[in-house]
Amino acid sequence: MGAGVALHADSITIRGGQPLNGRIELKGAKNLVTKAMVAALLGDTPSVLKDVPDISDVRVVRGLLDVHGVKITDGEEDGELHLDPGAVESAHMADIDAHAGSSRIPILFCGPLLHRLGEAFIPDLGGCRIGDRPIDFHLDVLRTFGAVVEKLPSGIRLSAPTGLRGAKIELPYPSVGATEQVLLTAVRSEGITELRGAAIEPEIMDLINILQKMGAIISVDTDRVIRIEGVTALSGYSHRALFDRNEAASWAAAALATEGDIFVGGARQSEMLTFLNVFRKVGGEFEIHEDGIRFYHPGTALNPVIIETDVHPGFMTDWQQPLVVALTKAQGVSIVHETVYEKRFGFVDALVEMGATIQIHRECLGGQACRFGQRNFNHSAVISGPSTLHGADIVVPDLRGGFSHLIAALSAEGTSRVSNVGIISRGYERFLEKLQLLGADFTIEG
Ligand code: EPU
Repeated sequence: MGAGVALHADSITIRGGQPLNGRIELKGAKNLVTKAMVAALLGDTPSVLKDVPDISDVRVVRGLLDVHGVKITDGEEDGELHLDPGAVESAHMADIDAHAGSSRIPILFCGPLLHRLGEAFIPDLGGCRIGDRPIDFHLDVLRTFGAVVEKLPSGIRLSAPTGLRGAKIELPYPSVGATEQVLLTAVRSEGITELRGAAIEPEIMDLINILQKMGAIISVDTDRVIRIEGVTALSGYSHRALFDRNEAASWAAAALATEGDIFVGGARQSEMLTFLNVFRKVGGEFEIHEDGIRFYHPGTALNPVIIETDVHPGFMTDWQQPLVVALTKAQGVSIVHETVYEKRFGFVDALVEMGATIQIHRECLGGQACRFGQRNFNHSAVISGPSTLHGADIVVPDLRGGFSHLIAALSAEGTSRVSNVGIISRGYERFLEKLQLLGADFTIEG
């Protein structure tokens, strides 16, 4: 997929201090395309998905669809996938197991496989270690639809001896994945499903667009209520994926932290309203164009901000990590209260080693107490700036934290060795080529 040979690396040496300037192009959102690929399992005819990025999460889902008999071919356009579910079949345990620990998406195969095959086996999940990330909501939801769930040492086995039926469901927290689980299961379950407490992220809305194209009947009401009328058959879809707003926000933060100027082709305003407000409060400048958004450093001092991460339409947790690097350069004290994942500040140790002043607290340092207060989770950060970062040897801990480390090294004085950068390709397509395009000074170590 894609033109040219992609650069790969385990570790890179970055010579910092160079502003990132230029234009990069986004493809579809990681957090939509992977689910859209799973949705293709529900159709009786082939689907076409456009703007699929070449990232490792996509490769994992592709592999898992492949072992279940979905024929996937590349289309003419860069990032176009054709998914033919005409010969879906049960996969061999060993083939499924080969995908254990590599992504969180396999849990979303449950509903579609139960509809297609009456049974499913899901390998152990992977994904970033940014919290415990339980799957209790997913399993409760599936049981409510009538699935029998059996936990095994190597994964989860599911069956639906009496079929799947629509139900009234209320999520304890507006989980993105559990909402997708409900959608992907309810569309072909018998009768009506009413989901309360649903997540309403733009990526979920785009998944609903796809399911509607396939023939589903889904209404999104006020107050996080989604109603789904089950249908007996769905067809394939043709869809261009929503752009990756998390990647857009990451490059925006990179422009700010490196005092650069980056045009993010494909970024759109409406899905980024909340981010843009915060970016402006920090002092970042942006221009909205028809084909993207230009993000740039103002050339003057940056301002501190108080941020609380939240579910949509709040400030996304995935935006927090890259922005923290820019906040180390702001004049004054910023506070970030992380309310979505309890352990998403592991990446700051490296920033502190590089000269940032960041303290992490167990207390909820936000407008309201969150689920993690009084529970020993270090989930609030106090960042005092401005700091001059200096190069260090750092190890990437997770996807967004890894991108933050890259930005930190690029904005630091001197040389940094950043290892384990492979993780970053889970969610950022061709990030090394993009860094080259933007004028970053780095060499690939291996
Ligand atoms: N949760 C539970 N039980 C569950 C499911 C979730 O307690 O059964 C909790 C989680 O532990 C977490 C909170 O609910 O504290 C929110 O989790 P959610 O289910 O919303 O997250 P997710 O579906 O696992 C997706 C994205 C994340 C993104 C979150 C929040 C994908 C593949 N991942 O995760 O993306 O941060 O929604 O928007 O869509 C990333 O891209 O770097 C990333 C981590």
